[in-house]
Amino acid sequence: MNVIVRLRKKIDESYGISIGNYSLAQLAAEIAKDGFGNSYCIVCDSNVKKLFGTRLLHELRKKKLEAGIVSFEAGERNKSLRNVEAVLGEMLSMGFDRKSCVIALGGGISGDLAGFAASVYLRGINFVQVPTTLLAMVDSSIGGKTGVNLALGKNTVGSFAQPKKVYASTQFIKSLPKNEFSNGMAEVVKQAVLNDAKFFSFLENNAGKILAREPKVMAEVIRKNCELKARVVEKDEKEANYRRVLNLGHTIGHAIETLGEYKAHSHGEAVSIGIVVENRIAAMLGLLKGEEECRVSMLLHEFGLPTELPDYAPEKILALTKKDKKAVSGKVKYSLPVAIGKMYSRKGEYGVFVDDKTVLEALRCGDDCCSCCCV
Ligand SMILES: NC(=O)c1ccc[n+]([C@@H]2O[C@H](COP(=O)([O-])OP(=O)(O)OC[C@H]3O[C@@H](n4cnc5c(N)ncnc54)[C@H](O)[C@@H]3O)[C@@H](O)[C@H]2O)c1
Ligand SMILES: [Zn+2]
Repeated sequence: MNVIVRLRKKIDESYGISIGNYSLAQLAAEIAKDGFGNSYCIVCDSNVKKLFGTRLLHELRKKKLEAGIVSFEAGERNKSLRNVEAVLGEMLSMGFDRKSCVIALGGGISGDLAGFAASVYLRGINFVQVPTTLLAMVDSSIGGKTGVNLALGKNTVGSFAQPKKVYASTQFIKSLPKNEFSNGMAEVVKQAVLNDAKFFSFLENNAGKILAREPKVMAEVIRKNCELKARVVEKDEKEANYRRVLNLGHTIGHAIETLGEYKAHSHGEAVSIGIVVENRIAAMLGLLKGEEECRVSMLLHEFGLPTELPDYAPEKILALTKKDKKAVSGKVKYSLPVAIGKMYSRKGEYGVFVDDKTVLEALRCGDDCCSCCCV
C-alpha cells in the first residue's frame, strides 16, 4: 500500500526594499502601514538596542502597535544557537504568537540571528529587516540566508527564509565607525566588479561624496547594489551555479579571516585583500587585463580598505581554501572576473578550478609583480 502526500508548492516570496533617509518615527509609520503582524518583536544586539532599539520600540508604541524588544550581546561569537534559544524563549514568555512579526534591527549579525529565530519560531513567522550597518543594507539583508555559527564553523546552521520587506535608512549610516563603513564598501566594490562596469565608474567618480556619507549618494549606492544582488539571487536563489559569482574575493578572504582568528581582520578587510589576490589570479590566467586589476585595487584603497596580503605563509592560505565549506573534495572553484562588470563562465558554468601553483604564485606576488604600482 502506498499513500502520497502531495505537496507541490507554488509560492511567491517576492519582497520590496524601501530605501530612504527615514527617521525612526518614519520607519515605525511605514511598519504600521505595511501591517505584516498583529504585534511586533524587535530583535537586536545590545549596542543597537541602546542606539536605536529602545527608541524604535517607543515609536511603534506611539503608533498604538503592540510591540516588545529582545536583545542579545553584540559580537560574532554571540551569533550562536544558545542565543537563538534565549531569544525564542523570551518571545514565548512575552506572548508573541503565529501572527506576530519579528523586526530584525541591526547589522548582519542581528539580521542573521533574528531572521533565523523568526523562521523557526512556532515553525515560522513573518519578519522584516531594518539593516543599520552598510554591510547589512547592501549584502546580508538581501537573499534570504539566515543562520548562526557553531563552535566548529561560521554560518553552519540556518535556513533560507525571505523577509516580508527590507527598510533601509541612510540615517543609520551616520553613526557607523569608519571600519564598519569600509566593511560595507568592500561588498559594494565586489558587486560592481562582478556585475556592472557603469556602477564601478559611478563609485570611482563619487568616491569623495561616498566617503563623506552623503545621504543622496549613499541611497543611490544602496539602491544600485540591492538591485544587482537581487538580480543574482533571483537567477539562482539556492546557489546552484550563478550565485557563486558573489564569492569573488571570499575564497582567499575567508582563509585570511580564519588565519587572523576572526580578530585581526574584519570580513570586509579580508574580502578586500581576497579580491586583490583573486583578481591577480585572473590576470595570471590571462582572463583579466592588468589595468582593470589596478583600477579595482585603487578603488578599494580609496575606500580605506587594505590591498596587501598580511604576513601569512601562502601554503597555509592555500590549505585553508581547500577546507572552505564551498570546496568539493578539496577542490576549489574560484569566481573570477574577465573584466570589470563581467565574470568568467564556461558553457554556462560559473567558477573555475585553479591549480595550486597559480594560487601560490599570486599569493607570493608582492606589489612589484602586480601590473600596477599605484596603491
Ligand atoms: N546572510 C547573509 O547573506 C550574509 C551576508 C554577509 C554577511 N553576513 C553576516 O553578517 C555579519 C556581519 O555583519 P555586520 O558587519 O553588519 O556586523 P554586526 O551586526 O556585528 O555590526 C557591526 C557592529 O556595529 C554595531 N552597529 C550596528 N549598526 C550600527 C550603527 N548604525 N551605528 C553604530 N554601530 C552600529 C553593531 O552593534 C556591531 O557592534 C556576519 O555574521 C556575517 O556572517 C550574512
Ligand atoms: Zn562577504
